Amino acid sequence: MSVNISSKIKKVTTHVLHEMKLRGEKIAMITAYDYSMARIIDSTGIDIVLVGDSASNVMAGNESTLPITLDQMIYHATSVVKAIDRALVVVDMPFGTYQGNSKEALCSAIRIMKETGAHAIKMEGGAEIIESVNRILSAGIPVMGHLGLMPQSIHKFGTYVVRATKDDEAAKLLKDAHLLEQAGCFAVVLEKIPAKLAEKVASAVRIPVIGIGAGAEVDGQVLVLHDMLGINQDFSPRFLRRYHNLYEEIKGAVQNYTNDIKNKDFPNEREQY
Ligand code: KIV
Repeated sequence: MSVNISSKIKKVTTHVLHEMKLRGEKIAMITAYDYSMARIIDSTGIDIVLVGDSASNVMAGNESTLPITLDQMIYHATSVVKAIDRALVVVDMPFGTYQGNSKEALCSAIRIMKETGAHAIKMEGGAEIIESVNRILSAGIPVMGHLGLMPQSIHKFGTYVVRATKDDEAAKLLKDAHLLEQAGCFAVVLEKIPAKLAEKVASAVRIPVIGIGAGAEVDGQVLVLHDMLGINQDFSPRFLRRYHNLYEEIKGAVQNYTNDIKNKDFPNEREQY
């Protein structure tokens, strides 16, 4: 039986994640965007906390991840980092802050690292962004890749369907994963691709492969916090396991509170001075 090394670790580093892959210990990753949630999450022994640009959807109510700005990501990441003692904190580089040129990409990554205290950044893409990836890595900033369904490119595809189902797309994805590994990325996220392809990538590269809708045969899993807690009711992809129905719980609690006020039942004598 393999020993669970991550439970003994005081601080998760990129080196720890690499060791976990070598030992076959699964890596647990989840998103967070604010201090209070991040505090609870870190106490569970989660390995990686991602300040995802999914904040654009679940925190700001946008239809896509495109509108969120670097300043807004820095605001969310700063709050999360304050709450974390143990997990590795990764911050998404928002759309438009790294695709233009590698100098701009490095400036964006430096701002994230300097102003938030996070441990790493994440970027969507392979060969198209490799110059920026190289430049950021050469500044000593750990980079996590992201391939497969890349929400920042949604308007190129027009749909959130499963990616890399055709042979040429699958071959490009595998090539991109190798490219990111060779550049020095410490891990890569694979989103919404066939499980067989994800398994192939995970066994072909030495860096940890974290899946979301990419099957079980990868090195770890990530979900968006609001989706897995059931806060979000209008998003139900096959890969999403809901661990709670917080939408109903919160609604019920606030409804009771409102009723108590209307019925002059709150506050009662014990709840006043
Ligand atoms: O922004 C995000 O939450 C992500 C995850 C879906 C991996 O990139």
